Amino acid sequence: MSLRVIGLRKRSCYRHRAGQFSRVPITQRAFTGSALQALEAAKGSASSFQRSKCGNTSSPPDFPQAYPDLKRPADPRVTTAGGNVDGMVDFLVVGCGAPARSMGWYHARQILDGEVPGARLSHVVEPWFLAGGRDSEPGTAFLTFKAEAEARGTAFHSSVADLQNAEISRNSCAIIASRTADNPQLFHAVIDAGVKYIYLEKPGAPTVAELENMAVYAEANAVQVFMGYNKNVSKYTRQALQAEKKHPEAITTYMHNNTFTTETLPECFERNCEGILKNMAVHELCLLVTYYGLSSSRLEKYEFEDDHTSCQTLGDVTDFDKIGIVLQTASGKVVRVRADRCGGESAWASLEVDGTEKVRFTTPDDELTEAILERQSRHPGYVPYFYVNHDDYVYLKSAVSSHILSGHEGTGPEGVATIDVAIETLKLAEFLTQKALAKYSPKGTTSSL
Ligand SMILES: NC(=O)c1ccc[n+]([C@@H]2O[C@H](COP(=O)([O-])OP(=O)(O)OC[C@H]3O[C@@H](n4cnc5c(N)ncnc54)[C@H](O)[C@@H]3O)[C@@H](O)[C@H]2O)c1
Repeated sequence: MSLRVIGLRKRSCYRHRAGQFSRVPITQRAFTGSALQALEAAKGSASSFQRSKCGNTSSPPDFPQAYPDLKRPADPRVTTAGGNVDGMVDFLVVGCGAPARSMGWYHARQILDGEVPGARLSHVVEPWFLAGGRDSEPGTAFLTFKAEAEARGTAFHSSVADLQNAEISRNSCAIIASRTADNPQLFHAVIDAGVKYIYLEKPGAPTVAELENMAVYAEANAVQVFMGYNKNVSKYTRQALQAEKKHPEAITTYMHNNTFTTETLPECFERNCEGILKNMAVHELCLLVTYYGLSSSRLEKYEFEDDHTSCQTLGDVTDFDKIGIVLQTASGKVVRVRADRCGGESAWASLEVDGTEKVRFTTPDDELTEAILERQSRHPGYVPYFYVNHDDYVYLKSAVSSHILSGHEGTGPEGVATIDVAIETLKLAEFLTQKALAKYSPKGTTSSL
């Protein structure tokens, strides 16, 4: 197994600092035709939105970036084949969180903005900002958002229990995006409220045992669960998967970066105390489970990369600011997963054959960079990953809506991870976390992972 390290070539043409993306001077280059077209397309689609009640558009915008092998799911309002009440999915966002900051809010925003065909924002459950957190700064921003959404037909609740009195349509789908520790309880509660479809944010639960318990409860109540693992449908990962068909012998590396700094790392460790593997590299582990058939029981070999791994204790938490693992599947395929909390703004996937890098796919690429800059100019101040992952989040919700409305009960939409995949992913993350801590955790420190 080769552990040769490929040097990271920096190709991004923007940088992210203090929550803002901006162009880097050396990249003051002529825009490519495709990038310009993407920018124009994005501008066009933004101005041609026809907003109506609950944010549904008469003609949803196209994806501004072309996925290599995934097409936008068909608009279910046109293609639905029965089992469909009024051609719309009623989305309930549970754990909406703070405007411009929280994942649930961005899902709600995209639905309200008409980005997801056939989707209607019917209910929002927000346990914190409609209660204890009401008077905080994000609480004030939340109330402004609430007023806007209520005017367009969305009902707000401070608890899932309130949904017992609400009308839950057969085509309701609950997006559960609260803090990971709170998600299991909310998951059970929305099922008790009668919801039959759940879009559960990754990793779904803090532990394998809780996630397994949730899967059992879902199955017992005939509830279908879709996971919010967006890297499963990201352009650069799909490009890498396509390229592997030509180079099946390649060693593939998935590199995931965050923009934390020495100053912000302690807060990151504390807030994401499930650890780097369960919180961050879990996206890449999900790719391995979904597309490479990996699981903790089918992991032939693994090895941590010392020069890509660093363990620290900050405050009460022992975690990794970066980690690198080489994994080998039972069929002999070798894949590297690397995550770096302070590595910068881009992520990439590369294929290496005989020690030479054949190809690297980076996100954001030129086309996505233009879309990011355009989105940021229209909506400044969002957390950076909203701009970067926007299309992935639209894709996942569109695929789920299309799946629900077209009456496919059995197999799930393409690329969308199931809860069984999420369980295997979390098992792998738990196993590797234990092994990594055993190897790197400073002696005498107790980890909170
Ligand atoms: N798929 C992705 O790319 C992606 C990205 C980020 C987060 N996530 C996932 O989404 C989920 C939510 O993450 P997030 O970062 O948006 O969470 P968040 O902490 O911003 O918000 C989640 C909920 O926490 C509650 N909350 C917020 N502040 C609180 C406080 N001070 N005290 C008590 N409760 C408070 C609110 O009810 C809120 O709805 C997690 O499961 C996370 O793993 C997914």
